[in-house]
Amino acid sequence: MNYQIQRGTYDAYGDDAMNMKKIEETLSAIALTYGYVPIHIPTYEQTELFTRSVGESSDIVNKEMFSFVDKGGRNISLRPEMTAGVMRAIVTNKLYAQDLPLKFFYCGNVFRYERPQAGRYREFTQFGVECVGVSSYYLDAEAIMLGYNSLLMLGFPKVILKINTIGDSLSRENYKAALKEYFKPYKNTMCEDCQRRYDTNVLRILDCKSEEDQKIIANAPKIENYLTDSAKEYFQKIIKILDECQIEYEIDPNLVRGLDYYSQVVFEYHFVSDQGVNLGALGGGGHYDNLLHDVGGPSLSSVGLAFGLERINTLLKEIDPDCYEKTTVDIFVVHMGNETIEHAFYLASSLRNEGFTVDLTYENKNIGAQLKLATRKKASFALIVGENEIKEHTYGVKNLLTQEQVNVAYEDLVDYFDEHLMEEHHEG
Ligand code: HAM
Repeated sequence: MNYQIQRGTYDAYGDDAMNMKKIEETLSAIALTYGYVPIHIPTYEQTELFTRSVGESSDIVNKEMFSFVDKGGRNISLRPEMTAGVMRAIVTNKLYAQDLPLKFFYCGNVFRYERPQAGRYREFTQFGVECVGVSSYYLDAEAIMLGYNSLLMLGFPKVILKINTIGDSLSRENYKAALKEYFKPYKNTMCEDCQRRYDTNVLRILDCKSEEDQKIIANAPKIENYLTDSAKEYFQKIIKILDECQIEYEIDPNLVRGLDYYSQVVFEYHFVSDQGVNLGALGGGGHYDNLLHDVGGPSLSSVGLAFGLERINTLLKEIDPDCYEKTTVDIFVVHMGNETIEHAFYLASSLRNEGFTVDLTYENKNIGAQLKLATRKKASFALIVGENEIKEHTYGVKNLLTQEQVNVAYEDLVDYFDEHLMEEHHEG
């Protein structure tokens, strides 16, 4: 039986898997500097958590959830995003009783039954942050800047930040009424999704990708004319902070995002490579006021964002194929077979305990084959263990880049590698 990989899923290994890990580590380190702490939540939840929060009118809930009934008859879904789960965890554990805002970051796999294409998977990885419990345009600006600066620090030469306000609930009510009025005569000619959106959440029509519908959307009323004074002021304050901090942005009046829980500011990060590769948003987020309350907690405002790590990884490799550390080995231990294998085994183990990356083979290969293997594994040094070396407690150490070989006494090995690997890393 030849098992096929499932559509929309992928295997990552070698440098690719290493890059994903490195991106997660970099983003985690940055989130820590903004005062976020990690949170871990389950991969699946009650389906209703997502229908209530992400929203009945969203494509995610409508078409893309991996839902099933478990053996106990419960309706379960694999998480299509993480924000709802974080809110549920805050309510379950009554974390809202702690000092606010709560600032959490997470990284995990999420599932959406979408049509697979470049940068679009059915199982993918999101890294995100949620700042919960305090409404402040400073916190919104801080989250926007965290996302923007993270992408620059990861190696993107430029980030296109799209930003918009969808106002407070009163602004949205007025705006939705105006949109309904505007789209009414076109409704029956628009795509099936938009006909549904017209009834469930007319705002979502602005997000439609169909070219025909886009022509109609181009002349639709704009939110700015329906904002309450306080919503307008709130957005202006965020924009002012971005200006002060010299963060470039584009105000996109049609940016409404694909999830129902947002209010006030929403934003997305985009990047187009020199070769014109555009995988869609690298990340996105926004302010939300009612989500915690909707999942059973107190009414507290929040802001958050999430990145798609696969899209980031693909584009970073496109920008600079050598941008990340490769899977490398510091020391490859080469032995002569028989009893020297045992010595090599213990030597490798003690060097690993000193913090070096050490590899070796237990197969009977001649020295030449072992040195070739060491080079394929991108080892910096070969440490040669023969019978004489064992007797004299002195080993041959070969620099695999320069091919120079020196003898180093057992007790000097750690210092030697410390010093020379440091040089290598600096040069490399
Ligand atoms: P989202 O925009 O649905 O937001 O997803 C965030 C990111 O996940 C996207 O910008 C994109 O990079 C990536 N992504 C989405 N779908 C796919 C896919 N099929 N394949 C690969 N990558 C994908 C959220 O999920 C919100 N929870 C963000 C948030 C947090 N808002 C507030 N807090």
